[in-house]
Amino acid sequence: MTDEANLTIGKVAKRCGVKVSTLHFYEEKELIRSWRNQGNQRRFKKDVLRRVSVIKAAQKVGISLADIKKALSTLPNNRTPDKKDWEALSTTWRDELTAKINYLEKLRNSLNGCIGCGCLSMNNCPIYNENDKLASEGCGAVLLDKQRV
Ligand code: FES
Repeated sequence: MTDEANLTIGKVAKRCGVKVSTLHFYEEKELIRSWRNQGNQRRFKKDVLRRVSVIKAAQKVGISLADIKKALSTLPNNRTPDKKDWEALSTTWRDELTAKINYLEKLRNSLNGCIGCGCLSMNNCPIYNENDKLASEGCGAVLLDKQRV
């Protein structure tokens, strides 16, 4: 194998601009894979560089590692995304991002009424209980009961 097909974790970290511990974490989460050489040291194939770039780019726009893992696992043989794959993944994530932005804008607009208030009223606070939705689910600490399920 050439050196390029045999990257050390330090080299991958340097080329990707991440910490070694980040790569350990990604590997633990099964987002990237390494193999061991005869000295039991981690080695990575060159395509890990692109894979880490995709992970970092997706994280930057707020995609969770679980969703990134799910998306990467849809690729045949769990391969590293090529240009076309990246276009498809980023299109899906763009839609998710738009939904998140819309939700956050709505939340920000609701927050205007809460600034300086601090009541977190079960009846009136648009952040805590918009339109008193919890009333339809029963009385008392309905959220606490839900968390036990
Ligand atoms: S904190 Fe009082 S209305 Fe939201």
